[in-house]
Parts: sequence; structure tokens; C-alpha cells
Amino acid sequence: MTRRKIAIVGSGLIGRSWAMLFAGAGYHVNLFDVTQELVENAIKDIEQQLHALAASGLLRGNLSAAEQLTLITGTKTLKECVEGALYVQECVPENLELKKKVYAELDELADDDTIIASSTSCILPSLFSENLKHRSNVLVAHPVNPPFYVPLVELVPAPWTAPEVVVKARKIMEELGQKPVSLSREIPGFALNRIQYAILNECWFLAQEGILDVADIDAVMSHGLGPRYAFMGPLETAHLNAEGMENYCERYGETIYNVSKTLGPVTRFEGEHLQKVNQQLLDQVPLEKLQEKRAWRNNCLASLAKLKQNIDKEQTD
Ligand SMILES: NC(=O)c1ccc[n+]([C@@H]2O[C@H](COP(=O)([O-])OP(=O)(O)OC[C@H]3O[C@@H](n4cnc5c(N)ncnc54)[C@H](O)[C@@H]3O)[C@@H](O)[C@H]2O)c1
Ligand SMILES: *[C@@H]1O[C@H](CO)[C@@H](O)[C@H](O)[C@H]1NC(C)=O
Ligand SMILES: *[C@@H]1O[C@H](CO)[C@@H](O)[C@H](O)[C@H]1NC(C)=O
Repeated sequence: MTRRKIAIVGSGLIGRSWAMLFAGAGYHVNLFDVTQELVENAIKDIEQQLHALAASGLLRGNLSAAEQLTLITGTKTLKECVEGALYVQECVPENLELKKKVYAELDELADDDTIIASSTSCILPSLFSENLKHRSNVLVAHPVNPPFYVPLVELVPAPWTAPEVVVKARKIMEELGQKPVSLSREIPGFALNRIQYAILNECWFLAQEGILDVADIDAVMSHGLGPRYAFMGPLETAHLNAEGMENYCERYGETIYNVSKTLGPVTRFEGEHLQKVNQQLLDQVPLEKLQEKRAWRNNCLASLAKLKQNIDKEQTD
């Protein structure tokens, strides 16, 4: 991997985050969007974000904010953006027809060994890559918002993605300081949203049954399961909660099975019950306060990221 050029296509929320992550690892980043103005605004915002990260001690890599900024270049055409790139990260809006159009263009511009990764949250990679010449180089690299503080990246291959492309993408993600996981095949929702939706479904059911109100349901996660899950997942948690997983299943397997059979059915999130849940959430956080609450959440996540960094450092010292 001697080429150090990365192409970011789409300079919105996620494109900006990727640009900073790649610059942090010393890559040259080209940024493209449909107008020059969008690219210029994105670079201005990136500059502010990099300085804020530096101020809070959370900048990635060895380079200063100013040095990282000089690695990020706006481009006027997709061709200029993609030409000679080692890796393309596509970050255009979540719309299959648009993705198909962009991938057809990328297919013409990419080299035979350029990795092309989509940030898509939900669209299966087979749906936009099937008819491409370079389809074996295409995969999904799905980040979690905000990617600077929540490092997971789901790598999802299409049936025709070359295994070595996934391996290379995984190495690049690790180099950035992200935490990649590699799915063996594509599946709706990938892994993160499948798990998230399972949780959301049961929360919905508990609210609908009137077992708990909205605030108390959320407290079960934020004060119960959440703190634990910030450090280890449900499987390792089970392993530790008995004398190993086998013992856990001997002790609790039947209970888990019995309880799981009573989990709520899959329903649509709509109608009268939606009105009720929505009203409780609006009482907690009115729409005009959402931006403020998002900033608060991002600060909390930044503090948690710092704590986790310190714990990792202590463990390696
Ligand atoms: N926002 C999130 O929390 C989040 C998290 C993970 C993944 N994603 C995924 O990332 C992708 C981008 O999401 P986002 O939130 O950054 O959206 P966004 O709307 O903030 O940014 C999309 C950008 O793409 C640009 N664009 C539109 N058409 C284009 C084209 N043909 N060529 C180049 N640029 C074009 C738009 O002008 C815009 O600047 C989506 O697939 C989304 O599912 C989003
Ligand atoms: C920081 O610099 C050192 C020495 O050049 C290098 O080995 C290391 O990989 C760099 N770290 C990051 C995160 O770029
Ligand atoms: C599970 O359910 C079965 C059938 O109702 C019952 O016989 C058994 O005692 C239950 N076991 C536990 C641990 O709840």
C-alpha cells in the first residue's frame, strides 16, 4: 500500500468524519460533492472540528490539526477526486437509485485495484454493485455516528466481493484507529441494526403493554445494560456472569428460552401507540432542544472515548 490517496464522495455529515479519520492517519484525502460551495463549507467545518478535537485531546494520530487540514483537498470533478485513489469511501445520501448512478460513474473512474466502500446504513451492497466491471472491489464500510467517538465499522461484502478486498479494507480501518468487524455475507440491517432493532422492538412492546413508561424503559439501557455494554458485549458478559458460557447456559438456558418465547411480536411503529411514545419523548426533549441534546450526547461519547483510551493505555503499559 504505497499509494496514500483516499477519495471521499459526498461531503455531508459522514463524508466529513471519514475525511478527518483518514487525514489523522496521514492519508491524502480528496473530497467531492455536487457543488464547489458544498465542498468549501465542508472543509471549513472540518477545520473547526479538527481544532475542537485537538482542544479536547481527542485528535487521532501524530499530526497537528493544521497538518491534518493540509492533507484534505476539495476537488471539482469526480474524476479528479477518484483518479489514482487507493480507496474510495462513498458517502452520498441513502437512496438506492442515487447510489446506482454514483457507482456506475465510479466504475469508469476507478483503477482495477481501487477499493470502493459504501457508508450505507441499510442498503445491501449487491443492490448497487452487481453489474459493475469492478464489482469484486466493492463492499460496505458502515460507520456509526459520530465515527470519531464510536469507532465500529461494519464491513459487509456482496456475494462477489473478493475476500482480499475485505482484508485490505479491514487493515485500513485498523490503521485509522477504527474498530472493524467483518460480516461473512450480506444480511438486511447488517449486524448493528439487527441488534438495535431487536432492542427497539422489545422497548416498544414494554411501552405498549404499559409495563414501563418511556423514561424508565430508556433507563434500563442507560443505567443498566448500557454501561456494561460499553466495555464488553452480551456474549462475554454471559461468560463472566457464570463459570463460563457453558455453565451460564446450564444455569440460565431454560429461563432465557422461556422468557424469550414471551418477547413481543414484530409490529409496525405507528398509530395511537406512536402518538403516546412520541408525546412522552417530546415532554423530555422538545424538538427545539434536539440540537442541544445531541451536542450533550456527543460530549458524553467523547468523554467515554477518552476513558476507554486511558483504560487501553493502562492495560498495555
Ligand atoms: N448520518 C448518520 O448517522 C449515518 C451513519 C452511518 C452511515 N450513514 C450513511 O452515510 C451516507 C451519507 O449520509 P450523511 O448523513 O453524511 O448524509 P448527508 O446528507 O449529510 O450528506 C450527503 C452528501 O452527499 C452529497 N451528494 C449528493 N449527491 C451526490 C453525488 N452524486 N456525488 C457526490 N456527492 C453527492 C450531498 O450534497 C451531501 O453533501 C448514507 O448512505 C447514510 O446511510 C449515515
Ligand atoms: C506515529 O508516528 C510513528 C513514527 O513515525 C508511526 O510509527 C506511527 O504509526 C504513527 N501513528 C499514527 C497513529 O499514525
Ligand atoms: C420453563 O417453562 C417450562 C414449561 O412451562 C416449565 O416447566 C419450566 O419450569 C420453566 N423453567 C424455568 C427455569 O423457568
